[in-house]
Amino acid sequence: MISRSPTLNVMMAAARKAARGLVRDFGEVEHLQVSMKGPSDFVSSADLKAEKVLRQELEKSRPGYGFLLEEGGEIVGDDRSHRWIIDPIDGTTNFLHGIPHFAISIALERDGEIVAGIVYQPVNDEMFHAEKGGGAFLNERRLRVSARRRIEEAVFATGLPFKGRPNHERSLKEVATVMATCAGIRRFGSAALDMAYVAAGRYEGYWESGIHAWDIAAGVILVREAGGYVTDIDGGTTMLTGGEVLAANDHMHAPLRTMINAARRGKD
Ligand code: IPD
Repeated sequence: MISRSPTLNVMMAAARKAARGLVRDFGEVEHLQVSMKGPSDFVSSADLKAEKVLRQELEKSRPGYGFLLEEGGEIVGDDRSHRWIIDPIDGTTNFLHGIPHFAISIALERDGEIVAGIVYQPVNDEMFHAEKGGGAFLNERRLRVSARRRIEEAVFATGLPFKGRPNHERSLKEVATVMATCAGIRRFGSAALDMAYVAAGRYEGYWESGIHAWDIAAGVILVREAGGYVTDIDGGTTMLTGGEVLAANDHMHAPLRTMINAARRGKD
């Protein structure tokens, strides 16, 4: 049995409680797929319900902490040092389409630094968790980023912009450059799980633009505690505020960054 801090226990318990409702609602989505009304309204209410449960549970255990919520926005707490950063359903489009690839993401920020994170995939009961200095885990198993060092063997994940989001052409150039060299690219639709999978060594790397802090905050500490690197696409540290992230194992971080920047400059 691994020993976990009280903070991680609080985060996991909140996620498991919210997940019970989400799994029930996910079961309903399949029926709604075939109805005339469609599941959109139902899914946004599932999102809001899950966020409410998470907020209530975390507030009960850590009164005064602030929140940054995907649905509810910023809530400043009496305790200005601590803030929860939460996405109640990361992978909402998957959820809406009955695709069982979505997760709850909770990060704890202390004085501007992410110090703990969990990404919980309720359908297959995968709880990814990490705390600063304590390592990263999937359920009870210690995680380490992949040891692959050859691009030809690497699988990378990304996110692509969709309706209403900018940079379609640029993303296509990035994908074209990376796919020419690696073993495969995945676009599974949950940034939180993409980051968790890098931590777990399932992907060698992941990058995305147009991303929000709540999509990746927990993933940042998962990847770092598993021995990987997380930066923005220029190699800086603005990933939670600048909308761009690149996470990878120690061997792939620099080459992936070089490829993406070359694609952006129009070279490949
Ligand atoms: C989305 C997912 C998706 C990513 C989008 C995010 P949401 O989050 O993480 O993989 O490509 O950029 O907005 O809306 O499902 O919480």
